[in-house]
Amino acid sequence: MIIVRTIGQMQSQSRVWRRSGRRIGLVPTMGFLHEGHASLIRLATKRSDTVVLSIYVNPTQFGPQEDLEAYPRDFERDEALCRDHGVTAVFYPDDTEMYAPSFSTWVVEDSLSLPLCGQSRPTHFRGVTTVVTKLFNAVLPDVAVFGRKDAQQALIIERMVRDLNFPIEIVLGPTVREADGLALSSRNRYLSEAERARAVAIPRGLRRAQELYAAGERAAPVLCSVVSAEIGSAGGHVDYVACVSRSTLAPLGEVAEPALLAVAAFFGCTRLIDNAFLD
Ligand code: PAJ
Repeated sequence: MIIVRTIGQMQSQSRVWRRSGRRIGLVPTMGFLHEGHASLIRLATKRSDTVVLSIYVNPTQFGPQEDLEAYPRDFERDEALCRDHGVTAVFYPDDTEMYAPSFSTWVVEDSLSLPLCGQSRPTHFRGVTTVVTKLFNAVLPDVAVFGRKDAQQALIIERMVRDLNFPIEIVLGPTVREADGLALSSRNRYLSEAERARAVAIPRGLRRAQELYAAGERAAPVLCSVVSAEIGSAGGHVDYVACVSRSTLAPLGEVAEPALLAVAAFFGCTRLIDNAFLD
């Protein structure tokens, strides 16, 4: 396994692989890897023969009041996980490599980025689409793998790839959860033991809503209120619970098409997101 620190070296390496007919799979991450990331590596391994995992805590997707400095980092552990999972190369650039001091060009998706997390984190998705474009241009992948845990992010990246004609196949992987249902996330590390125990109200609420949906309930406000109530009674603070179209993220009144039930909630100072399909 090689560690690549510069964009120039990454591009030359990828060109060599491409010339020899190898299919490159990219798994973009911000590091502090867990089983959710590992599941994406396994997916990438099925869809390509050369897997590049990028680790970059991207400052432009964090708001001014957010946790950029505190974001957990452990490169040695990440490196070991990548080695164990047969990753070919870790692309690990630093800030000076990724953003020139006079950086001024952005990739902005202008519709799907507005609701849900776009409301509470107005510059977040502009940072994501920009850095993912930069990672695509550095790694030159044939296929890139993302998690459905970040459902809005995944939809925005699919839209960007379609709209801007990136010759890259996007593959999505299912959400990996702890035994009690909490979605794995690098941010779970911030939770105190008590907050961690209470945070399970998020997947519990989503599951209750899915059960209600299966029993015939179609009113979005009812389905959303089940999730909010579950989180509220566990002492969490709801940022949003929304029942939206899975293709446009437009809010639904009645669930008459495949829907996404999306939630963001705080336990203590930690903001967690999760979602479930209704179909
Ligand atoms: P990060 O939060 O590190 O997540 C990297 C990838 O892992 C994303 O595609 C995310 O959806 C996926 N992932 C996270 N938790 C998961 C889980 N429990 N199950 C399955 N997949 C999971 O998302 C980002 O980084 C950044 O925004 C990035 C795309 C790298 C751009 O900076």
